[in-house]
Amino acid sequence: MSLIHLQEVTKTYNTAGVPVAALKNLSLSIERQTFVSFIGPSGSGKSTLLNLIGTLDKPTGGKVLVDGVDVATLNRSDAAAFRGNTIGFVFQNFNLIPVLNVYENVEYPLLMLKHVPVKERRERILNLLDKVGMLDQKDKYPNQISGGQKQRVAVARALVTNPKIVLADEPTANLDHATAFKVISIMHEMQKTFGTTFVFSTHDPKIVGEAELIYTLEDGFIINNGRKEQNRSTR
Ligand SMILES: Nc1ncnc2c1ncn2[C@@H]1O[C@H](COP(=O)(O)OP(=O)(O)O)[C@@H](O)[C@H]1O
Ligand SMILES: [Mg+2]
Repeated sequence: MSLIHLQEVTKTYNTAGVPVAALKNLSLSIERQTFVSFIGPSGSGKSTLLNLIGTLDKPTGGKVLVDGVDVATLNRSDAAAFRGNTIGFVFQNFNLIPVLNVYENVEYPLLMLKHVPVKERRERILNLLDKVGMLDQKDKYPNQISGGQKQRVAVARALVTNPKIVLADEPTANLDHATAFKVISIMHEMQKTFGTTFVFSTHDPKIVGEAELIYTLEDGFIINNGRKEQNRSTR
């Protein structure tokens, strides 16, 4: 079975009695160990979709299955536990904790998972910081590093619990094009190294070059799902 499976998913928000259809009958499957991008303009439904896959919200209709679990069946605490074990998040605004240094920011999600022994914790953190090229910056604080460096730390933090899936909602929206491209390459490198499934969204078609599978969203619909056969064979 696919790692992520959406079946005729709809999501309608109701604000002050006015329904807004954010996702309209989406069906798709994402396999393990892939690097997937959702592109689409602002308001096309990208965050809504990533929130459903991330078990942060539930569909109005249809089914969302993540690692075989129907997200609609999870209560709040089940969903939180499920996320802690299965999903890592990278945010648009990096969301690093300002009073913690780089090392401690990456360590943070591990402190929630009580079963990881101290020595292994330290090895995992140092290994990931090395892989994202931030080992020599480990004692710096978020306000002492650049946006691109913050996002590399955030990628390491998302991976430190060994999740099956990393979700990144517009991870490059606050970065210049060259830096954005580098961050996406690092995500792709991590996907290949750890076999993690990475799903990222962007409104910038220029940065999707590394994705293996690209879904284009428009007004709550998927208007294409271009498998990049050509790029793959020429890479
Ligand atoms: N919490 C919410 N309440 C009401 N409407 C929402 C909410 N979140 C998103 N929407 C609406 O749903 C649609 C899709 O939004 P969103 O998923 O945030 O798109 P994107 O991330 O692609 O910008 C938009 O019309 C947006 O205004
Ligand atoms: Mg969004």
